[in-house]
Amino acid sequence: MFKDFNYYAPTRVVFGRESEEQVASLVKQNGGSRVLLHYGGGSAVRSGLLDKMRLLLNQAGIATVELGGVVPNPLLSMVRRGVELCRAEGVDFILAIGGGSVIDSAKAIAYGVPYTAGDVWDFWEGKAVPTATVPLGCVLTIPAAGSEMSSSCVITRDDTLVKRGINSDLCRCRFAIMNPERTFTLPAYQTAAGATDIMMHTMERYFTRFNGMTLTDAIAEALLRTVMESATIVLRDPENYQHRAQLMWAGSLSHNDLTECGYEKDFATHRLEHELSAEFGVTHGAGLAALWGSWARFVLPGHEARFAGFAERVMGVEPGKDPHAMSIASIEAVEDFFHSIGMPVGIVELLGRPVTDGEIARMVDRCSRGGTFTIGSMVKMGPKEMEAVYRAANH
Ligand code: NZQ
Ligand code: ZN
Repeated sequence: MFKDFNYYAPTRVVFGRESEEQVASLVKQNGGSRVLLHYGGGSAVRSGLLDKMRLLLNQAGIATVELGGVVPNPLLSMVRRGVELCRAEGVDFILAIGGGSVIDSAKAIAYGVPYTAGDVWDFWEGKAVPTATVPLGCVLTIPAAGSEMSSSCVITRDDTLVKRGINSDLCRCRFAIMNPERTFTLPAYQTAAGATDIMMHTMERYFTRFNGMTLTDAIAEALLRTVMESATIVLRDPENYQHRAQLMWAGSLSHNDLTECGYEKDFATHRLEHELSAEFGVTHGAGLAALWGSWARFVLPGHEARFAGFAERVMGVEPGKDPHAMSIASIEAVEDFFHSIGMPVGIVELLGRPVTDGEIARMVDRCSRGGTFTIGSMVKMGPKEMEAVYRAANH
């Protein structure tokens, strides 16, 4: 059976080729007069997007300050720099120009600026709960993390490599500007990792301890079929607007909780992956692809019916076999798809070597917060189960 829910998705989405032109009016509508432009390692500079945003805002009488250099799997040190800068410059709105890493860094800065009672990391440690933020918006350049509509903010602490997310509606983007043309320049690997992440946000709400909300299932299933088709097409034809657009919209819908209505987040694969990307700096979506099949085989006993339905409606597995055979066929079909877009389906494929016993022990320790924390919904996982999945994926 499914559960009750409370659905909230307050981000205004401005989607299409001309969407960036609206940036100044969107910032003004949200009270911004002095804006931090936050961006990554250079793609927004090379494409001219940063210049364009600055120009449009300045022409409308909105002042800007800039902070670039956010790395994938964004770091606490950058967040602290951003907090200092915003305070010193009197910033009243933050505009993230980039992907999940830039948006999450912006969200963390937004939490940190009004918090003067301690250090911004207190929120990730659970020592404090955010009560205020600087408002923020984004110009999305990669469909992947879904941070543009999500309530999450995932940051890595540089010195301990603890990568952790916190959730609050306070950090939701006021608006998300999405021009699919901006994603034409994505490298194939980032396109594929992004598509994987979108699929995983959907599948990690589909495979839970709940079932029976067939409307939510149908939305999730259509989303998954669309992502697989569109990813395949744009990898051959990177400037295909229609399919870049579908991927971009799917990315937002995959993580704005629409496909959670009646269900909940399992997110075990996500949590296990966060340890991989914190420890080894790998691309989040690729890390998910490397782990999911091992997680799925681990949780399968007792959940064959759910996997068999997925096999038929999403992966096109011929019905008629027994549920166990259908389930295995569906897991293999997902892995075949990941391979077809250049994603790994094991840790050795991801890193070029197996992880050591010591590395597994460290990842399990962090993921389970020293053995005090469990993950997962379809199957609750403690340290023993986490270790089993890492070991099964270590090929
Ligand atoms: O840094 P630049 O130069 O901009 O390059 C980026 C980066 O190297 C590049 N890129 C982005 N747009 C581009 C482009 N290159 C060419 N053309 C463009 N249009 O792509 C690379 C990856 O960018 P990143 O922002 O790291 O990607 P993604 O959106 O996948 O974000 C990953 C981060 O989000 C977290 C992940 O853990 C990871 O830290 N997540 C955040 C979530 C959330 N807040 O809701 C949920 C997710 O599950 C995820 O955990
Ligand atoms: Zn993700």
